[in-house]
Amino acid sequence: MGKIIAITGKGGTGKTAVTALLIRNLVKDSGKKYNILAIDADPDANLADALGVKVDKTIGDMREFMQQARYTTSPDTDKQALFESKLFEILMEEEGYDLLVMGKPEGSGCYCFVNNLLRGIMDKTVTNYDLVIIDTPAGLEHFSRKTVPDLDVLIVVTDESRRGLTTGERIRDLAKEIELKYKELYVIVNKVTLDRKNVILGVAKSLGLEVIATIPYDEKLAKFDLVGDPLMGLPEDSLAIQEIEQVAKGIGL
Ligand SMILES: Nc1ncnc2c1ncn2[C@@H]1O[C@H](COP(=O)(O)OP(=O)(O)O)[C@@H](O)[C@H]1O
Ligand SMILES: [Mg+2]
Repeated sequence: MGKIIAITGKGGTGKTAVTALLIRNLVKDSGKKYNILAIDADPDANLADALGVKVDKTIGDMREFMQQARYTTSPDTDKQALFESKLFEILMEEEGYDLLVMGKPEGSGCYCFVNNLLRGIMDKTVTNYDLVIIDTPAGLEHFSRKTVPDLDVLIVVTDESRRGLTTGERIRDLAKEIELKYKELYVIVNKVTLDRKNVILGVAKSLGLEVIATIPYDEKLAKFDLVGDPLMGLPEDSLAIQEIEQVAKGIGL
């Protein structure tokens, strides 16, 4: 059974950047060999961009297919098998990892369709991988035990403000509320501008939060992102790349 890691936090804190860099670290730099499934669970999907993957099909696109299948197939068609074969079609096999993009449901469909499928997909696929890494949308509201299986690691990405850090606290409470189970909760403080590492660690400690990495504001990363260059191509001397090693270590990879 694979280890399931979900990355959450407020919008714009750097969830997607951190997810992409962690995948990069595991695939390119760490020298370890994990069988990895990356899931972009944000409807405003951009993990694929950060990874430099062109997306043709998303889980959102499957909605229409599954609805039509109700009329175009005979009643004794195995819908589950049909679903799985379709799932295989939209699974993108990249160098060192596979990628699934949830996307938006087609037309005016609701996200619950995509979210409901996520659970089925996770249950189906999780046994095939050593690691499942999920880039989640801001807020955990759409995540519940119905959507994702129990997590091994929940990572909260925040900025260096106190308010950012208290997000970690709130997410802990929210997880309890929606009965999202996890074994460990870790915080990553991102876009740290000054050398405030010790102050940040002190504040986090007082809030009972475990910070596994403080990632500096990285001018190179910001530029790459701005012009749409995948973060997979960031040079080794990028500040964020250097710190991401701590993330991998912090979660025991
Ligand atoms: N360590 C960093 N240094 C500089 N810019 C960063 C860093 N991490 C993220 N960013 C920038 O912040 C913005 C939001 O990042 P993103 O990963 O898309 O956040 P989220 O997925 O949480 O919404 C992007 O423009 C990204 O380039
Ligand atoms: Mg994002």
